[in-house]
Amino acid sequence: MKEKLNALLEAAKKEINEATDENTMNNIKSKFMGKDSEFTSVMKSFKDLADDAKKELGTLTNEFRVSFTESFENKYNEIKTALLNKRLETERIDVTLPGKRVSAGTLHPLTKVRIDLEDLFVSMGYDVVEGPQIETDDNCFTKLNIPKDHPARDTQDTFYITDEMLLRTQTSSVQVRTMLANTEKTPIKMVCPGKVYRRDNDDATHSHQFMQFEGLVVDKNISLSDLKGTLLEMARGLLGPNTNVRFRPSFFGFTEPSYEVDVTCFKCGGKGCALCKNIGWIEVLGSGMVHPNVLRACGYDPEIYTGFAFGVGIERIAMFKYGITDLRNIYTNDVRYLNNFARKED
Ligand code: DAH
Repeated sequence: MKEKLNALLEAAKKEINEATDENTMNNIKSKFMGKDSEFTSVMKSFKDLADDAKKELGTLTNEFRVSFTESFENKYNEIKTALLNKRLETERIDVTLPGKRVSAGTLHPLTKVRIDLEDLFVSMGYDVVEGPQIETDDNCFTKLNIPKDHPARDTQDTFYITDEMLLRTQTSSVQVRTMLANTEKTPIKMVCPGKVYRRDNDDATHSHQFMQFEGLVVDKNISLSDLKGTLLEMARGLLGPNTNVRFRPSFFGFTEPSYEVDVTCFKCGGKGCALCKNIGWIEVLGSGMVHPNVLRACGYDPEIYTGFAFGVGIERIAMFKYGITDLRNIYTNDVRYLNNFARKED
């Protein structure tokens, strides 16, 4: 038996020695140690032996197993190391090669202004709402107290889809929607950013599509001083703590009284420069106290409720803030141009 096991071990070691891959090694293992191997049949013969013979064979089989396992594992590790070295060699990374530059995107200047405005008003407890760009004539004009013969309703100014449907010319339509949707007729504090459309020919300062930011507050005892305080807060939050606001009388059908609001020129601080045409002020928005007819048309009793509203042109703010001189550059979306604003972060 001893010779038989020695011969087997000899044969196994020879095959192990010649093996060069994991597959062959696995075959060797099952050939010499597997359930159909000679070694296993020797192990099975134990039960028929006398105690002394059992002991002797036990030592022999143990020696076989230890010696086989040692040779097998040494070779197996050798093959694995060789394989790993080969992979490291073929997949070697040349760390001196120039890398691929991944360019980070930046927020569009209009998005930045919109987010700044939203953050500001959310911090003052306003809801941010949205409304559709395709709007009814009623929401865009009639309920806003804009009479049938008003020039804004002219087909020269507004994109009509049908007699009753149009592309909204102002986000003020969302004032109407918000008041109508509030069936309990509770107080309202909302802002609404969004796109609006007008039949303008595109040039450096006009666009057939642009963005507005609307605000509406409806409650008991809302007065002009609330409007003034809110817009001063907005101007300072957006353009810096030294900014002031100035109110000039104006006319909008949906507010009475109505005001155009100017802010101190961000470039010269009010001294007068080319940007503000030496006036020291720049016009940025329209505002006023919500007209009683509008409150009434939207189900609010003007004897109980008052309100203020305002509408800012987002492009106008972005142009002044980021020194953009041609409105068309905002919309052509040339990444080389837009990337400039990544560095003008404030
Ligand atoms: N909707 C006006 C426009 O497009 C701007 C505006 C003026 C909005 C006065 C208002 C407001 O809410 O009260 O020119």
